Amino acid sequence: MIGILKPRKEIIGQVFSGVIEEIGEKTNNFRVGDKVYGLSGFSLGAYAEYKKIREINSKQGCVALMPDNISFEEATSVAYGGLLAQQFLEKKTINAGDRVLIYGSSSISGVFATQYLKNLGAEITCVCRENKFEFMRTLGAHKLLDYTDKKSINKLEQYDLVFDCVGKARNSELKMACKNHLHDKTNFISIDDEALLLDSSRLLRINELVQKNIIKPVNDRIYSFEQMIEAHKYVETGHKRGNVAVTVNKTEVLGFSPVKDQE
Ligand SMILES: NC(=O)c1ccc[n+]([C@@H]2O[C@H](COP(=O)([O-])OP(=O)(O)OC[C@H]3O[C@@H](n4cnc5c(N)ncnc54)[C@H](OP(=O)(O)O)[C@@H]3O)[C@@H](O)[C@H]2O)c1
Repeated sequence: MIGILKPRKEIIGQVFSGVIEEIGEKTNNFRVGDKVYGLSGFSLGAYAEYKKIREINSKQGCVALMPDNISFEEATSVAYGGLLAQQFLEKKTINAGDRVLIYGSSSISGVFATQYLKNLGAEITCVCRENKFEFMRTLGAHKLLDYTDKKSINKLEQYDLVFDCVGKARNSELKMACKNHLHDKTNFISIDDEALLLDSSRLLRINELVQKNIIKPVNDRIYSFEQMIEAHKYVETGHKRGNVAVTVNKTEVLGFSPVKDQE
């Protein structure tokens, strides 16, 4: 997908937020000056000052007006974690009092899921390393388990839903054991069960949650464009908390037309 001998797309990056500079003649939903956020899908190119994107969802991306109560950097956290988590959670009926275990709760979709499920009244057990317990409590965790502690397995209860937010590459004995602690075995869902759907209507539903302060964006670190290598190195440690954002400042180039020059 990204190229065998060299990168197929020279500018990578899949999550963006920013201000609309120009619109096409047939654009219906956006105006110049609108603050937007979204994902660029297979077209990548989000690590750039300008990005051309269709207003209609496609494999090349999706875009929506962003919530007006958060920053651009915070918006990227919501776009990525929110789309991922909600794709799975919107399909499930969660009732107040249901017991839910969120595995990898400090991941980008884990921090979203914890806040979303807390709002629905679920009893939430979060799984992360101990140094993140206090942070997860502030987001709504009722109980906490450390996946590196062997004794955690004995503390597992029976759950209505187990949501694996870190996917198949990140495992532990505790994660395997969770599968035997469900009332209904089909209620183990993993963030890797389906490919991410690029859906601007879902982004708009997420906007409402953010505007009502039900979901607060979580940015672990924010880097400048010049610190891109450090940003990637930090993410690759596999222990970020929520999101890492990179700020790309616009350079004023005389006579540059973002729409025409990127075709
Ligand atoms: N379905 C799709 O199309 C799609 C698209 C994009 C991403 N994804 C999935 O989403 C994941 C990305 O998550 P992310 O961006 O948040 O990054 P990440 O680097 O995968 O996750 C970081 C978090 O994972 C936790 N973690 C690391 N190892 C763990 C383990 N063995 N058990 C439990 N938790 C562990 C860390 O918490 P601690 O510091 O406490 O360990 C950290 O907070 C990817 O790995 C991928 O599987 C799916």
